Amino acid sequence: MKQIISFAMASSIAVSLYSQPPGPGPRDPGPRTGPTQSGKPLAGMTAGELQYFQQGFHAFSETDEVLNGLGPRFNLDSCKGCHSQPAVGGTSPAQNPQIPVAHKLGAINRIPLFIRPDGPAFAVRFKQNPDGSPDGGVHNLFVISGRSDTPVGCNIQQEDFSRFQNLSLRIPTPTFGLGLIESIAEDTLRTNLAANANRRGALGIGGRFNTNGNDGTITRFGWKAQNKSILIFAGEAYNVEVGVTNELFPNERETAKACMSKVSPEDHSDLSTGEYADVQKFAFFMRYLAGPPPAASNPSTDRGRVLFDTTGCTMCHTPALKTDNVYSKSLSQQTANLYSDLAIHRMGVSLADGVSQGSAQPDEWRTAPLWGLGERLFLMHDGRSRDVVDAIRQHDSPGSEARSVVRNFNLLRPDQQQDLVNFLRSL
Ligand code: HEC
Ligand code: HEC
Repeated sequence: MKQIISFAMASSIAVSLYSQPPGPGPRDPGPRTGPTQSGKPLAGMTAGELQYFQQGFHAFSETDEVLNGLGPRFNLDSCKGCHSQPAVGGTSPAQNPQIPVAHKLGAINRIPLFIRPDGPAFAVRFKQNPDGSPDGGVHNLFVISGRSDTPVGCNIQQEDFSRFQNLSLRIPTPTFGLGLIESIAEDTLRTNLAANANRRGALGIGGRFNTNGNDGTITRFGWKAQNKSILIFAGEAYNVEVGVTNELFPNERETAKACMSKVSPEDHSDLSTGEYADVQKFAFFMRYLAGPPPAASNPSTDRGRVLFDTTGCTMCHTPALKTDNVYSKSLSQQTANLYSDLAIHRMGVSLADGVSQGSAQPDEWRTAPLWGLGERLFLMHDGRSRDVVDAIRQHDSPGSEARSVVRNFNLLRPDQQQDLVNFLRSL
């Protein structure tokens, strides 16, 4: 009883002192500018690996046209367009590439209201079908109709994106360090999630893994950890984002015959020359991208690193995990400083998006890896925040496992909050 009273008193003192901070609150110093160290290959790669990494870089940077398989429906005409900040492989750039592509080569697309010149690039899911049953799939923003490289007679129309309540918007996740993430053993992930059970429990933090329905193994890529491997993600993205069918996803999503100019799979390995398919090349590139290196530390970021732990952020954002013994030396037994447990957590009503993927429910999201955060322009799955302080506050709505941790953050002195924010922007 005594303890409870003193705890209540202590927290009411804390509230009266800090709920209305005397000075200005913490300020996000904003994304780091200047030359980036991100987008480089892993250290210690063999000459062969480096050669495939470079081939992959070129394929990932290429722009597709209808003759290469673009469309009939698509979100953009290259991987790089959506994955370019602060270097090829990253995430949405400041200028939205989906504005110019809408009218490229005479295309007649309307630009949905939420696609802004200075906004993030989006992939859009529908929550429900017109009959009210769950949908959850990606609906392409644009069509090839009207482009000068489109077959005559192809006149498909865009879908209707005006029912805003039915949309779930997603910004691109960066692909730096994906090979390291893929190389973390299942045991390592499960042991990490089981560690600190007491501290997590006291903070109200749960967490579980999204898994693949067929083999039961952990899926770890995408905002809801819905996807199993880099190669599968590459195949799916080529079909879904760019509209190019391939050996992993061989069927067109839009079947209007008049719009077909190439047989499927439009992208495939060349068995006469032995040349790999583009999807393989994309995967080589992303697999061998190094994790984004942090900025040099300073006394403020050093203090912030400690506070990131003591407030409980590390209970989801695990600072580092070791990779397994895998076939490539540059990926084997490495430390991935990813700041994620790769588990999914309930994040509250305000972040819930009405979409289920695998076992992830509408309010469940993968702990976003925070490496590279210092160079990010848009934050959270739908890019709702540009400011890391706001991103922290977004963790705090009814039903979120992060509420106690956000309260701990709010109870810090303003100078401590500033140190934590500076630490985040050093990543
Ligand atoms: C229109 C923009 C857009 C284009 C074009 C695009 N992506 Fe993405 N990418 C996204 C979005 C949005 C996500 C997050 C998807 C999700 O989780 O719902 C993503 C996520 C990814 C991821 C998962 C990374 C992780 O760790 O979660 C990979 C891998 C990826 N994309 C590869 C590619 C490849 C390869 C291409 C080219 C074939 C491509 N993307 C083209 C928007 C795009
Ligand atoms: C219960 C687990 C959990 C805790 C605790 C937690 N986070 Fe998160 N964090 C997440 C998840 C899940 C996301 C992605 C949510 C989304 O996009 O909807 C996220 C996203 C973020 C992002 C945005 C990253 C991006 O890629 O856009 C930042 C920044 C962040 N967290 C910082 C923090 C800080 C700082 C703390 C401690 C004060 C913290 N988080 C505590 C789970 C957690």
